[in-house]
Amino acid sequence: MPDHASHPLPPLAARGRLSLTLEEMVAWGERFGRAATPPLVVTLAGDLGAGKTTLVQAICRGYGVTEPVTSPTFALVHRYAARRSPVYHLDLYRLRGPAELTNIGWDEIVSAHALVLVEWPERATGMLPQHVPIDLEHLPGDESRRVLLAG
Ligand SMILES: Nc1ncnc2c1ncn2[C@@H]1O[C@H](COP(=O)(O)OP(=O)(O)OP(=O)(O)O)[C@@H](O)[C@H]1O
Ligand SMILES: [Mg+2]
Repeated sequence: MPDHASHPLPPLAARGRLSLTLEEMVAWGERFGRAATPPLVVTLAGDLGAGKTTLVQAICRGYGVTEPVTSPTFALVHRYAARRSPVYHLDLYRLRGPAELTNIGWDEIVSAHALVLVEWPERATGMLPQHVPIDLEHLPGDESRRVLLAG
């Protein structure tokens, strides 16, 4: 019997704080990705190392991306193909200003028929369309993360 069977995963529609181990968070992200329908923008907020990229990788896997998903730290955006739609993964940590958003094609990306996953969305405050906001928090001295589906 799988280990997580004794810890039923929260429903995808859950609102509120969830404390998830890495394994639980990955399973939850894969379910989220399987359920996602484009066009959809999802933001992932949280400190350095909170688990944003790890969750993006799980969501992409669930969505059907078969290539390895790597952090777009310097490129700011990576694009992946999936059967349902393209997937854009943005990491805005190093964004220097709105002009850079224009350069990477922000307007086209957020209005595309696509799944768009945005790390460090605070950097684009005021420029985000309607989205599903996810907040991640590293619990000190703990291997688990708090996942907050805000909204
Ligand atoms: N729920 C979790 N429980 C325990 N460890 C986790 C969890 N989620 C992620 N980690 C671990 O934390 C580390 C950092 O994760 P990750 O790179 O996804 O963070 P990040 O939020 O994307 O960081 P950055 O701000 O640098 O982009 C990884 O080693 C990952 O395995
Ligand atoms: Mg990251």
